[in-house]
Amino acid sequence: MSLFDLTGKVALLTGASKGMGLAMAKALAEQGATVVISARKQDQLDAAAAEINALGKGQAFGVACNVGYKDQLQALVDETHKVAGKIDIVIGNAGVNPYYGPTSEIPDDAYQKTMNANVQSNLWLAQMVAPDMVEKGAGSMAFTSSIGAFKPSVMLGTYGMSKLALIGLVRNLAAEFGPKGIRFNAICPGLVRTEFARELWDNPEVEERIKNDIPLRRLGEPDDFAGLAVFLASDASRYMTGQALTVCGGSNMWT
Ligand SMILES: NC(=O)c1ccc[n+]([C@@H]2O[C@H](COP(=O)([O-])OP(=O)(O)OC[C@H]3O[C@@H](n4cnc5c(N)ncnc54)[C@H](OP(=O)(O)O)[C@@H]3O)[C@@H](O)[C@H]2O)c1
Repeated sequence: MSLFDLTGKVALLTGASKGMGLAMAKALAEQGATVVISARKQDQLDAAAAEINALGKGQAFGVACNVGYKDQLQALVDETHKVAGKIDIVIGNAGVNPYYGPTSEIPDDAYQKTMNANVQSNLWLAQMVAPDMVEKGAGSMAFTSSIGAFKPSVMLGTYGMSKLALIGLVRNLAAEFGPKGIRFNAICPGLVRTEFARELWDNPEVEERIKNDIPLRRLGEPDDFAGLAVFLASDASRYMTGQALTVCGGSNMWT
């Protein structure tokens, strides 16, 4: 049996109709997992689920959910139970950045939206899914943070704060649930060529400058996260919990 085999496992992913979330869902399905992918727009989820099902490996279901709302997250978990069964793997990948500007000037609603979607929603999800994993005595949850967690920023500072808080959440949950066999880790991407970050890379001159500062000399692509998702979800990472794993072409080294 391969260390990476996910046959018979059920994975729930948020923010998974495109970008890194979709790449990670595909990778889990390729290893045999049943994947429930979620995002706000059902039509994009249907297209993404069809793409995964066409691979002919693990089955995919698309269930709409805005992670900012606790009742929608509960409905997502309930629907996952109905279509796929008890959950073994969570990838909390949805994240938002509604505000560019100094933290000292952020309006209350933008601050709350950022913290709610990037931190609180993942705590809710963990609380809702942990009973499945406690019952099985095993499970893996990974939440998408960012290298923005590791440094200050005058334009993206509140987003970075939320992603640092998410690493703090991962550490606490890892400590609380480790004795029950549940692992929690954070994924910290560098700049990845997705819609979410388009404003940061969609300019040839800027892109060239950024690439020259990255040891691997290119921006990240969604598929660069496929291997990490399988690693974190599977037995291959069975002794790893409470960690923040940085995937950024070397743009951010150990701090
Ligand atoms: N791209 C980067 O450079 C980068 C770097 C570091 C960290 N990240 C983090 O990576 C994660 C994924 O981003 P990505 O770059 O892969 O973005 P993306 O390609 O734009 O995909 C974002 C996904 O999240 C969904 N989504 C957005 N808001 C949501 C909400 N409130 N509730 C549920 N789903 C929502 C989107 O679908 P709908 O619009 O249909 O909801 C989509 O499926 C985020 O947590 C982001 O903070 C990105």
